[in-house]
Amino acid sequence: MDVEMVKSTLEAEGLDFTLHHIKSKNDFLKSIHDSDYDIVLADYSIPGFDGLSALNLAQSIKPESPFIIISGTIGEETAIDVIKQGATDYVLKQRLSRLVPAIVRALSEAKEKVERKKAQKELRLSHDKLHKALVQTVNSLALAVETRDPYVSGHQQRVAQLASEIATALSLGEEAVEGIFLAGNLHDIGKINIPSGILSKPGILNDLEIALIKNHSQVGYDILKGIDFPWPIALTVYQHHEKLDGSGYPLGIKGDEMLFEARIIGVADVVEAMSSHRPYRPARGVKHALEEISDNAGLLYDREVVDCCLDLFQNKGFTFTYQEEHKHFF
Ligand SMILES: [Fe+2]
Ligand SMILES: [Fe+2]
Repeated sequence: MDVEMVKSTLEAEGLDFTLHHIKSKNDFLKSIHDSDYDIVLADYSIPGFDGLSALNLAQSIKPESPFIIISGTIGEETAIDVIKQGATDYVLKQRLSRLVPAIVRALSEAKEKVERKKAQKELRLSHDKLHKALVQTVNSLALAVETRDPYVSGHQQRVAQLASEIATALSLGEEAVEGIFLAGNLHDIGKINIPSGILSKPGILNDLEIALIKNHSQVGYDILKGIDFPWPIALTVYQHHEKLDGSGYPLGIKGDEMLFEARIIGVADVVEAMSSHRPYRPARGVKHALEEISDNAGLLYDREVVDCCLDLFQNKGFTFTYQEEHKHFF
């Protein structure tokens, strides 16, 4: 009788619909899975399979589908309860005139929800795409400097690898770690300004050549300062050769004046550089690199960063990844 009443109410309002009357839990489950329905209208209290059980089932399988409880006995508290459990609306049998407006509203809200979800998905995809482009741009910039200096091929990537591992071990958070990774990848970008003859010169450099090389922190800063990164990348690059006691360059700033990011890149830079070959000297090896930072922890290098770096190499099995493919660019 109730179904007939609902049906005639919908017909009286001129709705175009197909109504499936479902009485058992099994039929309901089958319908949820197999049919492309728009809305569920359920009685609240009927023997056997009641509205609340139907609501719970529908919620667990198709939570986005609207669900209206129709009942003659529902109290205010129960009404609030069914809404809390996920029902879109409830309509009293003695006020069936509310049914069609409730259905129309529920359907339009459901449609909006689907569209909003779609828009959010598209936004996320476009964000991911932009993010990928940012990382690729940074890699291309890094490669631009390394194509001029084969001896440091992969140096920035390995500094980025170690620096981001240190940042992760120090629990800096995913976003900060990414900033440090990108800064590591770009920290020597200023070397693009140095004549390649000097970069790959074996033997001792004269004062002018040393000054030109030391200028790469400033040039790197100048190249990057115009990019509005969500991290202080330009400043990190500017400070990556500063030392805790003020003996670094270009400014000779001390301790806390240095960005924590720059202290991490600084340690990773020294360890990587000492572990690899240079035109003017063979590699001194990881062992010596670790001795250098360990001997100077708290003097030249941040103690917390050094301890973390030593722990990575000595207890966590960290090793640099050497990628051969960079050589193909020459
Ligand atoms: Fe550098
Ligand atoms: Fe470097």
